[in-house]
Amino acid sequence: MGKVIAIANQKGQVGKTTTAINLAVCLAEAGQKVLLIDTDARAGATQALGLEHTGSKRETLYELLTGKAEIETTIHDTHFSGLKFIPSDINLVEVELKFLNVPGRNMILRKALEPVRHKYDFILIDCAPSLGIVTTNALVAADSVIIPIHPEMYPVDGIGKILQTIRIIQDSEQNPNPGIEGFLITMYEKHTVTQSQIVAEIRDLFKEMVFTTTILYNPQTNGAESYRKLSGEVIAKAFKNEN
Ligand SMILES: Nc1ncnc2c1ncn2[C@@H]1O[C@H](COP(=O)(O)OP(=O)(O)O)[C@@H](O)[C@H]1O
Ligand SMILES: [Mg+2]
Repeated sequence: MGKVIAIANQKGQVGKTTTAINLAVCLAEAGQKVLLIDTDARAGATQALGLEHTGSKRETLYELLTGKAEIETTIHDTHFSGLKFIPSDINLVEVELKFLNVPGRNMILRKALEPVRHKYDFILIDCAPSLGIVTTNALVAADSVIIPIHPEMYPVDGIGKILQTIRIIQDSEQNPNPGIEGFLITMYEKHTVTQSQIVAEIRDLFKEMVFTTTILYNPQTNGAESYRKLSGEVIAKAFKNEN
């Protein structure tokens, strides 16, 4: 049964999309069957995977959430073997307004994934920097959450809000999960004193909930080389919980 992992933080520019794509590719390279879902209307992951110019008619997450398409028709191939993808586009912003008063609005993605979950080892969900209906759908669908943290000023303030949202979902009856898969330090400039102090503080506070792997700041590669190590941690954890 595929493990569903949301990559979420209501703060933008912390490396969510970079993490979602690189982790998905590394898991696929490690022989895992992976489905990546872009739930951000800005469609960064979709563009990065080069699916915006496929030309032929393609269904997106919007058609899935609004009941206009079956999930199978929204799942696209990518250039990477073992990696499938559900794209997003700007229409997704409409969902926030359309579903404002619809009962069960937070369960749509969770229900939609049911028939395909068994086909994947991992389903990764790239979230938008917001805590609206689409992100709530992602968190309700998730078994666990990766929270990327850019170690700048007062990181703990930012983390509080996403932890609170996760707790509200756990307390509702929609999903007893999601657990915290891990906090991921991203864009880390480890030679700056402030950042290394903040990272030490985060490790002290959240202990083993923080991934051992950190993603170093590197504008040339976006830390790509570290994501293989992260994928190893994620696979090890999934394996450990199965046994
Ligand atoms: N390790 C890194 N080093 C340098 N730049 C990075 C790194 N990871 C991501 N970036 C850049 O930072 C910006 C924000 O990353 P992104 O993954 O889009 O964040 P989010 O999805 O949280 O908004 C992007 O321009 C991305 O290319
Ligand atoms: Mg993003």
